[in-house]
Amino acid sequence: MGHFLHSLNINNYIENYTSPENPVLSKLNRETNLKIELPIMLSGHLQGAVLQAFSHMLRPRRILEIGTYTGYSAICLAQGLTEDGHLHTIDINEELQDMCFRYICDAGLEGRITQHIGRAENIIPELDEVFDLVFIDADKVNYSRYYDQVFDKVRIGGFILADNVLYDGEVVLPPEQQSKNAKAMHAYNEKLRNDPRIEHVLLPVRDGIMIARKTKE
Ligand SMILES: C[S@@+](CC[C@H](N)C(=O)[O-])C[C@H]1O[C@@H](n2cnc3c(N)ncnc32)[C@H](O)[C@@H]1O
Repeated sequence: MGHFLHSLNINNYIENYTSPENPVLSKLNRETNLKIELPIMLSGHLQGAVLQAFSHMLRPRRILEIGTYTGYSAICLAQGLTEDGHLHTIDINEELQDMCFRYICDAGLEGRITQHIGRAENIIPELDEVFDLVFIDADKVNYSRYYDQVFDKVRIGGFILADNVLYDGEVVLPPEQQSKNAKAMHAYNEKLRNDPRIEHVLLPVRDGIMIARKTKE
């Protein structure tokens, strides 16, 4: 209990000492929680602020996001785009497209974000771009496939981020106690550990973000 309260306090403290959510993101967070299934999927205040900071640090020209949901992380990631920068985001669920577009417009990002609707594995090969930053946040069982599909489209020095790589801590359980998704996340982490073309760090923010930097073709 003491430990639980301590981490609750620490999490509050961390959010209190992170710039507040801007009004558009806070409204999007609220509407997602009120109206949309599985609002836990939304990146949220802290992770959104981290993605936004990365984007400002990198100043990417081309970003690919796999897993748009209601657009929270897309809006955060788009904040540091260069003047001529553009973000492509893919989701299989067309029902969220209009709500997401409304918030893209509210955030003043109309024309800077393209929403692609369909299976990511079919859309990725059609994108004729060189990406500075990729954020993988869709169906867990396909992370390794998405990594392979995007790798050649990322420039040397570019980054591939993947969300939920700790899968609520399940990745450290014995395999027989892991869910299918946790197994897929562990396989993804192993795959990256064995890939000599990257440098990587597992950042323990929220559910774990794997940050990989491409160093070789
Ligand atoms: C965790 S949510 C994304 C959350 C979002 N990045 C954020 O931070 O707010 C995962 C999304 O992946 C989408 N998805 C699942 N399987 C997919 C697939 N095969 N292709 C494209 N999108 C998929 C789901 O519809 C869902 O909206």
